[in-house]
Amino acid sequence: MVASGTFGYGFDAPQVDRSALGAMVTKGTTRAARTGNPPVRIAETASGMLNAIGLQNPGVDYVAQTYAPQWVEWDLPVIVNIAGESIEDYVEVARRLDGRPGVAGIELNISCPNVEAGLQFGVDARLAAQVTEAVRAATEMPLMVKLTPNVTDLVGIARAIEAAGADSISAVNTYLGMSIDVARRRPALANGLGGLSGPAIKPLALRAVWEVASAVEIPIVGVGGIFTAEDALEFLLAGAAAVQLGTVNYVRPDAARLVRDGIVAFAADSGLPDLGDIALRPRRKAVHV
Ligand SMILES: Cc1cc2nc3c(=O)[nH]c(=O)nc-3n(C[C@H](O)[C@H](O)[C@H](O)COP(=O)(O)O)c2cc1C
Repeated sequence: MVASGTFGYGFDAPQVDRSALGAMVTKGTTRAARTGNPPVRIAETASGMLNAIGLQNPGVDYVAQTYAPQWVEWDLPVIVNIAGESIEDYVEVARRLDGRPGVAGIELNISCPNVEAGLQFGVDARLAAQVTEAVRAATEMPLMVKLTPNVTDLVGIARAIEAAGADSISAVNTYLGMSIDVARRRPALANGLGGLSGPAIKPLALRAVWEVASAVEIPIVGVGGIFTAEDALEFLLAGAAAVQLGTVNYVRPDAARLVRDGIVAFAADSGLPDLGDIALRPRRKAVHV
Protein backbone atom coordinates (compact mmCIF):
# COMPACT_ATOMS: atom_id res chain seq x y z
CA MET A 1 0.00 0.00 0.00
CA VAL A 2 1.02 3.61 -0.32
CA ALA A 3 0.92 5.38 3.05
CA SER A 4 -1.34 8.22 4.06
CA GLY A 5 -0.15 11.72 3.19
CA THR A 6 2.44 10.62 0.67
CA PHE A 7 0.12 9.91 -2.27
CA GLY A 8 -2.56 12.57 -1.90
CA TYR A 9 -5.88 11.16 -3.12
CA GLY A 10 -4.21 9.39 -6.01
CA PHE A 11 -4.65 12.09 -8.65
CA ASP A 12 -1.33 13.94 -8.43
CA ALA A 13 0.99 11.43 -10.04
CA PRO A 14 -0.72 10.06 -13.17
CA GLN A 15 2.57 8.51 -14.30
CA VAL A 16 2.53 6.08 -11.38
CA ASP A 17 1.43 2.58 -12.29
CA ARG A 18 -1.48 1.92 -9.93
CA SER A 19 -1.59 -1.74 -10.89
CA ALA A 20 1.48 -2.26 -8.69
CA LEU A 21 -0.45 -1.31 -5.57
CA GLY A 22 -2.40 -3.57 -3.25
CA ALA A 23 -4.27 -0.54 -1.92
CA MET A 24 -3.97 3.22 -1.64
CA VAL A 25 -4.35 5.02 1.66
CA THR A 26 -5.43 8.63 1.22
CA LYS A 27 -4.34 11.80 2.93
CA GLY A 28 -5.89 12.33 6.38
CA THR A 29 -9.46 13.53 5.84
CA THR A 30 -11.42 15.66 8.30
CA ARG A 31 -15.02 16.81 8.75
CA ALA A 32 -14.32 20.31 7.39
CA ALA A 33 -11.70 21.31 4.83
CA ARG A 34 -8.34 22.40 6.30
CA THR A 35 -5.61 24.57 4.80
CA GLY A 36 -2.97 23.07 7.08
CA ASN A 37 -0.01 24.79 8.69
CA PRO A 38 1.82 27.78 7.21
CA PRO A 39 5.08 27.01 5.39
CA VAL A 40 7.82 25.85 5.90
CA ARG A 41 6.10 22.48 6.33
CA ILE A 42 8.80 20.05 5.20
CA ALA A 43 12.49 19.78 6.07
CA GLU A 44 15.01 17.25 4.86
CA THR A 45 17.22 15.52 7.44
CA ALA A 46 20.23 13.22 7.11
CA SER A 47 18.19 10.07 6.55
CA GLY A 48 14.60 11.11 6.45
CA MET A 49 12.27 14.07 6.44
CA LEU A 50 10.32 16.12 8.92
CA ASN A 51 6.82 17.26 8.10
CA ALA A 52 4.20 19.40 9.76
CA ILE A 53 1.58 19.65 7.03
CA GLY A 54 -1.25 20.11 9.51
CA LEU A 55 -3.76 17.81 7.80
CA GLN A 56 -4.41 19.93 4.75
CA ASN A 57 -7.37 18.31 2.98
CA PRO A 58 -10.58 19.27 1.15
CA GLY A 59 -12.92 17.82 3.80
CA VAL A 60 -14.92 14.59 3.83
CA ASP A 61 -17.86 15.78 1.71
CA TYR A 62 -15.58 16.75 -1.17
CA VAL A 63 -13.76 13.43 -0.86
CA ALA A 64 -17.02 11.46 -0.80
CA GLN A 65 -18.69 13.37 -3.64
CA THR A 66 -15.80 14.17 -5.97
CA TYR A 67 -13.04 11.60 -5.39
CA ALA A 68 -14.92 8.44 -4.42
CA PRO A 69 -16.94 8.24 -7.68
CA GLN A 70 -13.64 8.35 -9.59
CA TRP A 71 -12.13 5.61 -7.40
CA VAL A 72 -15.02 3.33 -8.37
CA GLU A 73 -13.44 3.18 -11.83
CA TRP A 74 -10.06 2.12 -10.45
CA ASP A 75 -9.12 -1.49 -9.97
CA LEU A 76 -7.63 -0.61 -6.58
CA PRO A 77 -9.02 -0.61 -3.05
CA VAL A 78 -8.91 2.89 -1.58
CA ILE A 79 -8.65 3.23 2.18
CA VAL A 80 -9.56 6.69 3.47
CA ASN A 81 -7.42 7.88 6.38
CA ILE A 82 -9.56 9.93 8.74
CA ALA A 83 -8.75 12.40 11.51
CA GLY A 84 -10.58 14.60 13.98
CA GLU A 85 -10.44 16.72 17.07
CA SER A 86 -13.21 14.93 18.93
CA ILE A 87 -14.85 11.52 18.88
CA GLU A 88 -17.90 13.11 17.22
CA ASP A 89 -15.65 14.40 14.44
CA TYR A 90 -14.29 10.92 13.71
CA VAL A 91 -17.74 9.35 13.85
CA GLU A 92 -19.20 11.94 11.49
CA VAL A 93 -16.37 11.50 8.96
CA ALA A 94 -16.75 7.70 9.12
CA ARG A 95 -20.53 7.97 8.71
CA ARG A 96 -20.22 10.12 5.61
CA LEU A 97 -17.90 7.54 4.05
CA ASP A 98 -19.76 4.43 5.20
CA GLY A 99 -20.89 2.25 2.34
CA ARG A 100 -19.78 4.84 -0.22
CA PRO A 101 -18.90 3.13 -3.54
CA GLY A 102 -15.19 3.62 -4.20
CA VAL A 103 -14.24 3.55 -0.52
CA ALA A 104 -12.89 0.15 0.56
CA GLY A 105 -12.09 0.89 4.18
CA ILE A 106 -11.03 3.36 6.82
CA GLU A 107 -7.69 3.99 8.47
CA LEU A 108 -8.01 5.89 11.75
CA ASN A 109 -5.24 8.41 12.36
CA ILE A 110 -5.26 8.73 16.13
CA SER A 111 -2.16 10.96 16.21
CA CYS A 112 -4.47 13.97 16.52
CA PRO A 113 -5.06 16.10 19.58
CA ASN A 114 -8.35 15.56 21.36
CA VAL A 115 -9.25 19.17 21.95
CA GLU A 116 -11.32 18.39 25.04
CA ALA A 117 -8.78 16.09 26.71
CA GLY A 118 -5.77 18.16 25.61
CA LEU A 119 -3.76 15.16 24.50
CA GLN A 120 -3.56 12.94 21.44
CA PHE A 121 -6.06 10.06 21.18
CA GLY A 122 -3.25 7.69 20.34
CA VAL A 123 -1.12 8.27 23.43
CA ASP A 124 -3.75 7.07 25.87
CA ALA A 125 -5.16 3.51 25.80
CA ARG A 126 -8.56 4.61 27.08
CA LEU A 127 -8.97 7.43 24.53
CA ALA A 128 -7.62 5.23 21.72
CA ALA A 129 -10.17 2.54 22.62
CA GLN A 130 -13.02 5.06 22.88
CA VAL A 131 -12.48 6.52 19.44
CA THR A 132 -12.01 3.05 17.92
CA GLU A 133 -15.20 1.78 19.52
CA ALA A 134 -17.20 4.83 18.40
CA VAL A 135 -16.03 4.56 14.79
CA ARG A 136 -16.56 0.80 14.86
CA ALA A 137 -20.20 1.42 15.73
CA ALA A 138 -20.54 3.97 12.90
CA THR A 139 -19.33 1.80 10.03
CA GLU A 140 -19.21 -1.78 8.86
CA MET A 141 -16.31 -1.05 6.54
CA PRO A 142 -12.92 -2.61 7.36
CA LEU A 143 -11.36 -0.51 10.11
CA MET A 144 -7.59 -0.16 10.47
CA VAL A 145 -6.24 1.90 13.36
CA LYS A 146 -2.83 3.56 12.99
CA LEU A 147 -0.56 3.67 16.02
CA THR A 148 1.46 6.69 16.98
CA PRO A 149 4.90 5.59 18.17
CA ASN A 150 5.30 8.61 20.46
CA VAL A 151 4.15 6.66 23.51
CA THR A 152 5.53 4.59 26.37
CA ASP A 153 3.19 1.59 26.27
CA LEU A 154 2.66 0.84 22.59
CA VAL A 155 1.60 -2.76 23.26
CA GLY A 156 -1.02 -1.74 25.84
CA ILE A 157 -2.52 0.74 23.39
CA ALA A 158 -2.53 -1.83 20.59
CA ARG A 159 -4.35 -4.33 22.81
CA ALA A 160 -6.95 -1.71 23.78
CA ILE A 161 -7.54 -0.92 20.09
CA GLU A 162 -7.96 -4.61 19.26
CA ALA A 163 -10.43 -5.08 22.12
CA ALA A 164 -12.38 -2.04 20.89
CA GLY A 165 -13.11 -3.76 17.57
CA ALA A 166 -10.41 -2.74 15.07
CA ASP A 167 -9.96 -5.15 12.15
CA SER A 168 -6.26 -4.38 11.77
CA ILE A 169 -3.52 -2.09 13.06
CA SER A 170 -1.06 -0.05 11.04
CA ALA A 171 2.23 0.70 12.76
CA VAL A 172 3.57 3.35 12.79
CA ASN A 173 2.93 7.04 12.22
CA THR A 174 5.83 9.53 12.31
CA TYR A 175 8.16 10.13 15.27
CA LEU A 176 8.12 13.62 16.76
CA GLY A 177 11.29 15.46 15.89
CA MET A 178 12.78 18.83 15.05
CA SER A 179 15.44 20.51 13.00
CA ILE A 180 16.95 23.97 13.53
CA ASP A 181 18.12 26.33 10.83
CA VAL A 182 21.34 27.62 12.36
CA ALA A 183 21.87 30.51 9.93
CA ARG A 184 18.36 31.85 10.60
CA ARG A 185 18.46 30.76 14.23
CA ARG A 186 14.96 29.33 14.16
CA PRO A 187 13.31 25.95 13.81
CA ALA A 188 13.42 24.70 10.22
CA LEU A 189 9.66 24.10 10.31
CA ALA A 190 7.30 27.01 10.95
CA ASN A 191 5.47 24.73 13.37
CA GLY A 192 8.66 24.07 15.35
CA LEU A 193 8.14 20.33 15.74
CA GLY A 194 7.35 17.86 13.00
CA GLY A 195 6.97 14.17 12.26
CA LEU A 196 10.10 12.26 11.26
CA SER A 197 9.77 9.63 8.54
CA GLY A 198 12.01 7.74 6.13
CA PRO A 199 15.01 5.41 6.58
CA ALA A 200 15.91 6.99 9.93
CA ILE A 201 12.85 5.43 11.56
CA LYS A 202 12.94 1.95 10.02
CA PRO A 203 14.58 0.13 12.95
CA LEU A 204 12.22 1.89 15.35
CA ALA A 205 9.13 1.04 13.32
CA LEU A 206 10.32 -2.55 12.92
CA ARG A 207 10.65 -2.91 16.67
CA ALA A 208 7.12 -1.53 17.07
CA VAL A 209 5.73 -4.12 14.64
CA TRP A 210 7.74 -6.91 16.30
CA GLU A 211 6.36 -6.09 19.73
CA VAL A 212 2.77 -5.48 18.68
CA ALA A 213 2.73 -8.62 16.50
CA SER A 214 3.23 -10.82 19.53
CA ALA A 215 0.54 -9.01 21.52
CA VAL A 216 -2.52 -8.91 19.23
CA GLU A 217 -4.27 -11.36 16.92
CA ILE A 218 -5.50 -8.92 14.27
CA PRO A 219 -3.25 -8.31 11.23
CA ILE A 220 -0.60 -5.61 11.39
CA VAL A 221 0.40 -3.40 8.51
CA GLY A 222 4.03 -2.30 8.86
CA VAL A 223 5.01 1.25 7.91
CA GLY A 224 8.11 3.31 8.58
CA GLY A 225 11.18 3.81 6.42
CA ILE A 226 10.48 1.08 3.89
CA PHE A 227 12.42 1.90 0.72
CA THR A 228 13.29 -1.51 -0.75
CA ALA A 229 11.88 -5.02 -1.07
CA GLU A 230 14.34 -6.13 1.58
CA ASP A 231 13.00 -3.50 3.98
CA ALA A 232 9.46 -4.72 3.31
CA LEU A 233 10.52 -8.33 3.88
CA GLU A 234 11.99 -7.35 7.24
CA PHE A 235 8.53 -6.15 8.28
CA LEU A 236 6.87 -9.33 7.00
CA LEU A 237 9.43 -11.39 8.93
CA ALA A 238 8.72 -9.29 12.02
CA GLY A 239 5.06 -10.28 11.80
CA ALA A 240 3.41 -7.71 9.52
CA ALA A 241 0.74 -9.01 7.14
CA ALA A 242 1.31 -6.18 4.67
CA VAL A 243 3.29 -2.95 4.37
CA GLN A 244 2.82 0.70 3.46
CA LEU A 245 5.36 2.87 1.66
CA GLY A 246 5.46 6.55 2.58
CA THR A 247 8.46 8.84 2.19
CA VAL A 248 9.99 6.71 -0.55
CA ASN A 249 7.20 7.89 -2.90
CA TYR A 250 8.86 11.32 -2.93
CA VAL A 251 12.20 9.83 -3.92
CA ARG A 252 11.08 7.08 -6.29
CA PRO A 253 7.50 7.37 -7.49
CA ASP A 254 7.66 3.81 -8.82
CA ALA A 255 8.85 2.42 -5.48
CA ALA A 256 5.75 0.29 -4.90
CA ARG A 257 6.28 -1.61 -8.14
CA LEU A 258 9.97 -2.18 -7.37
CA VAL A 259 9.17 -3.39 -3.85
CA ARG A 260 6.38 -5.65 -5.06
CA ASP A 261 8.57 -7.15 -7.81
CA GLY A 262 11.37 -7.70 -5.28
CA ILE A 263 9.04 -9.49 -2.89
CA VAL A 264 7.69 -11.69 -5.68
CA ALA A 265 11.27 -12.53 -6.76
CA PHE A 266 12.21 -13.37 -3.16
CA ALA A 267 9.19 -15.66 -2.84
CA ALA A 268 10.10 -17.45 -6.05
CA ASP A 269 13.82 -17.78 -5.18
CA SER A 270 13.14 -19.07 -1.71
CA GLY A 271 10.37 -21.45 -2.82
CA LEU A 272 7.80 -19.83 -0.56
CA PRO A 273 4.43 -19.80 -2.31
CA ASP A 274 2.68 -18.09 0.62
CA LEU A 275 4.46 -15.20 2.28
CA GLY A 276 1.78 -15.29 4.97
CA ASP A 277 3.92 -17.95 6.61
CA ILE A 278 7.26 -16.18 6.73
CA ALA A 279 6.96 -14.40 10.10
CA LEU A 280 9.89 -15.38 12.33
CA ARG A 281 7.54 -16.13 15.20
CA PRO A 282 4.22 -17.86 14.62
CA ARG A 283 1.31 -15.41 14.69
CA ARG A 284 -1.46 -16.31 17.06
CA LYS A 285 -3.80 -16.45 14.09
CA ALA A 286 -2.64 -17.34 10.60
CA VAL A 287 -2.48 -14.36 8.29
CA HIS A 288 -2.31 -14.79 4.55
CA VAL A 289 -1.15 -12.00 2.32
C1 LIG B 1 4.29 14.54 4.18
C2 LIG B 1 3.65 13.47 5.02
C3 LIG B 1 2.29 13.58 5.34
C4 LIG B 1 1.68 12.60 6.13
N1 LIG B 1 0.34 12.70 6.39
C5 LIG B 1 -0.29 11.72 7.12
C6 LIG B 1 -1.69 11.78 7.37
O1 LIG B 1 -2.39 12.68 6.90
N2 LIG B 1 -2.24 10.80 8.15
C7 LIG B 1 -1.50 9.75 8.65
O2 LIG B 1 -2.05 8.88 9.34
N3 LIG B 1 -0.16 9.67 8.41
C8 LIG B 1 0.45 10.62 7.67
N4 LIG B 1 1.81 10.53 7.42
C9 LIG B 1 2.58 9.40 7.98
C10 LIG B 1 2.86 8.31 6.93
O3 LIG B 1 1.66 7.75 6.44
C11 LIG B 1 3.75 7.18 7.54
O4 LIG B 1 3.10 6.60 8.64
C12 LIG B 1 5.10 7.72 8.01
O5 LIG B 1 5.59 8.70 7.12
C13 LIG B 1 6.15 6.62 8.17
O6 LIG B 1 6.37 5.92 6.96
P1 LIG B 1 7.56 6.29 5.93
O7 LIG B 1 8.83 6.34 6.74
O8 LIG B 1 7.54 5.20 4.92
O9 LIG B 1 7.23 7.62 5.36
C14 LIG B 1 2.44 11.50 6.63
C15 LIG B 1 3.80 11.41 6.30
C16 LIG B 1 4.41 12.36 5.50
C17 LIG B 1 5.88 12.23 5.18
